[in-house]
Amino acid sequence: MSTTTPGAPAGTARQDPGPPEQDGPLVVYFSSVSENTHRFVTKLGCRAVRLPLHTGDEPPVVDEPYVLVAPTYGRPNGSGAVPPQVVRFLNREVNRRHLLGVIGAGNTNFGDHFCLAADKIAAKCDVPVLYRFELMGTEEDVRNVTRGMEQFWRQCMQLRA
Ligand SMILES: Cc1cc2nc3c(=O)[nH]c(=O)nc-3n(C[C@H](O)[C@H](O)[C@H](O)COP(=O)(O)O)c2cc1C
Repeated sequence: MSTTTPGAPAGTARQDPGPPEQDGPLVVYFSSVSENTHRFVTKLGCRAVRLPLHTGDEPPVVDEPYVLVAPTYGRPNGSGAVPPQVVRFLNREVNRRHLLGVIGAGNTNFGDHFCLAADKIAAKCDVPVLYRFELMGTEEDVRNVTRGMEQFWRQCMQLRA
């Protein structure tokens, strides 16, 4: 599996989080063409794998522990909340096996359905929802997730050792 640290779009100023630690947290994420989730994950500065944009493209095989970041794309009745690209990725047993937890992205305008995809994935895969953020997240969200994920990662790695 190849991991990448997504870069900021050309011409945008951001604090460079530096190169990711090779044994630090790994994030797998989906982000549509609006790229809100992509922008958030970029700010974390950790190892990251982006799922393919097109449902027809083969999803990656992730054979090491990771945290999934998934936006919600629901219908008004809540169905279809988990993007099909994420469903396809999680349909592979090896990918489900290494999933440690899920972070939800969404928009609070959707009320009770805010970050519904994360809740659905967590229930289906029996993992915790670690955090929820709106759109591309705030600086506080970035700090919370960076700190929280370091801690969560350390605990998970200790349990596995
Ligand atoms: C058609 C559509 C349906 C959506 N449904 C939900 C929803 O049910 N709950 C929610 O929290 N956000 C919902 N959103 C908001 C997206 O999850 C949000 O914009 C997210 O930041 C998109 O991430 P991305 O730009 O990385 O794809 C929806 C957005 C669209 C366009």
